[in-house]
Amino acid sequence: DTIDASIFAQLGLSVYDNGYLNTAVCRSSISYIDGDKGILRYRGYNIEDLAMHSSFLEVSYLLIFGDLPTADQLNMWTTRIMRHTFIHENMIDYLRSFRYDAHPMGMVTSALAAMSTFHPEANTALQGEHIYQNENMVNKQIFRCLGKVPTLAACAYRHRIGRAYNSPSNEFGYTENFLYMLDRLSENNYVPNPRLSRALDIIFILHADHELNCSTAAMRQMTSTGVDPFICLTGAASALYGPSHGGANEAALKMLEEIGSVDHIPAFIEEVKAKKRRLMGFGHRVYKSYDPRAKILKQIADEVFEIMGRNNLIDVAIELERIALSDEYFIKRNLYPNVDFYSGIIYKAMGFPTDFFPVLFCIARTAGWLAHWHEQLQNPIPIFRPKQAYEGEEPRNYVPIDERV
Ligand code: ACO
Repeated sequence: DTIDASIFAQLGLSVYDNGYLNTAVCRSSISYIDGDKGILRYRGYNIEDLAMHSSFLEVSYLLIFGDLPTADQLNMWTTRIMRHTFIHENMIDYLRSFRYDAHPMGMVTSALAAMSTFHPEANTALQGEHIYQNENMVNKQIFRCLGKVPTLAACAYRHRIGRAYNSPSNEFGYTENFLYMLDRLSENNYVPNPRLSRALDIIFILHADHELNCSTAAMRQMTSTGVDPFICLTGAASALYGPSHGGANEAALKMLEEIGSVDHIPAFIEEVKAKKRRLMGFGHRVYKSYDPRAKILKQIADEVFEIMGRNNLIDVAIELERIALSDEYFIKRNLYPNVDFYSGIIYKAMGFPTDFFPVLFCIARTAGWLAHWHEQLQNPIPIFRPKQAYEGEEPRNYVPIDERV
């Protein structure tokens, strides 16, 4: 259903498409969304099947290389990634130099940019044009990025709570190790709760890719310049930092806290219908039916509450959803819960501070960003150069400063 825009170039025309909402800028085989039917697939596999049967590292392999790994491939993949979880001592000093209350997402994006200087062999400008035709070189950067991002995130978390940073432990799986680095107590043989590790691992699967969202588009745009993947990830993570992208679950959580109890829901719904407010965590640009990720998150919420204790916000969320989905206003506009409706409550129940929510998203989405980087290395796109529709002044004569009025 897509017209090749080169036809416009032949006619000497260009199309005005504010925010690229109707422009396909690449061909991709990574994820597929049918917003009307509420379908999300990674490489042809339904998200529900992957969430039920797979692990985040297996899904990362699938996204990047196109197929599920064999047992040997998964073993090798996991070993390589876990070997790259350690970060350079100078990176630790760099992270320690941030203000005591630095936003963890600011620390992670800065550390991603700094990684470029720790691994200069990944820099095409220094090494010549063709290093990314070398498969080993490509894979090494993927291992590094997937391995180190959770460690950077854990350091940012420990920094914020004023505690010593923890080293990774390769005795654990990927997500378990991340939880271990957040919480390890110096003397105890701390082992993260396996059910919580699994719940977070599934949440990472759900957030791993979502075709050409804003941060992934940023990743591709940066990739088109030939810059190394750490700088590309910095651009993508910076886009994710924006409240309209990675921060919507925080807004949904704040809304549920503000509503406070199920008795206040009808009055709140009336305000939404009067267009004084938006129901945060509802509605989606692409999904015009139930976001399949939200359905899975709703089940995970039950699991997490069973372990961490029930929080009344889940009752508010469930009742709010029930009332909204039976109300003509929401039905007519195809407004259903999206991925952000339940994720904030789950993160809160797990004990994460709200400013850490986008960091969790960043860990998961790193897999998708790298899959798009990898795909684009194989099918290069010319350096992105969108057109603009100029609507400024006609040519004017320069006026010396003492003659200006
Ligand atoms: N609450 C109340 N009404 C809404 C909502 C909402 N959350 N979302 C859309 N509407 C209404 C609009 O007022 C509009 O009504 P109208 O036709 O009477 O004018 C109609 O539904 C269509 O709204 P649009 O803004 O055109 O829908 P769009 O698809 O462009 O918006 C968006 C999608 C931005 C996500 C919107 O639904 C929204 O603001 N949701 C709340 C914020 C949110 O949860 N964002 C996270 C999205 S998921 C993600 O980014 C990972």
